[in-house]
Amino acid sequence: MSELINTMSMQIPAKSENESFARAVVAAFCVGLNPTIDEISDIKTAVSEAVTNCVVHAYQKRQSNQDIITIECKLFTDMLEVSIRDYGIGISDIKKAMEPFYTSEPGGERSGMGFTVMQSFMDSISVNNQSGGGTVVTMQKVFTKEKEQVSGE
Ligand SMILES: Nc1ncnc2c1ncn2[C@@H]1O[C@H](COP(=O)(O)OP(=O)(O)OP(=O)(O)O)[C@@H](O)[C@H]1O
Ligand SMILES: [Mg+2]
Repeated sequence: MSELINTMSMQIPAKSENESFARAVVAAFCVGLNPTIDEISDIKTAVSEAVTNCVVHAYQKRQSNQDIITIECKLFTDMLEVSIRDYGIGISDIKKAMEPFYTSEPGGERSGMGFTVMQSFMDSISVNNQSGGGTVVTMQKVFTKEKEQVSGE
């Protein structure tokens, strides 16, 4: 049965240098469950995409200490749940925003694949606007139970 074994909450300013920091913290939070390299890599990629969206879309690249991202993690015996929350502009049409190749910044450096990447690398994702403004992305990653034994052990 899935049991909650640990929780973590952090707040960081929406600055691009915090993207790598956030993904490293979330990865470190999971290591006790002995995840595979692939599972950790998937989680890092998904967290990066969500945090980048907060920096570039929710807070429109202001890089300000006043613009906050909240990351909450719950570690269960068999999975991680991570929520990435901003208090920025929100998303007017979530269904459209989640379509592959949709971006509100065509012609720039964005390819519109962030949500698609999150969807394919994690086991579930939900995206919601908050009543006070901003967006929360909640994702779950289930860890494989059977790990390959290293021969000789
Ligand atoms: N936290 C957010 N706040 C406001 N709008 C967002 C947020 N996250 C995503 N969006 C909107 O959803 C659209 C799709 O996001 P997605 O991450 O899939 O693509 P992208 O960020 O435009 O491009 P890419 O991630 O490939 O660089 C964005 O273009 C933006 O309009
Ligand atoms: Mg994106």
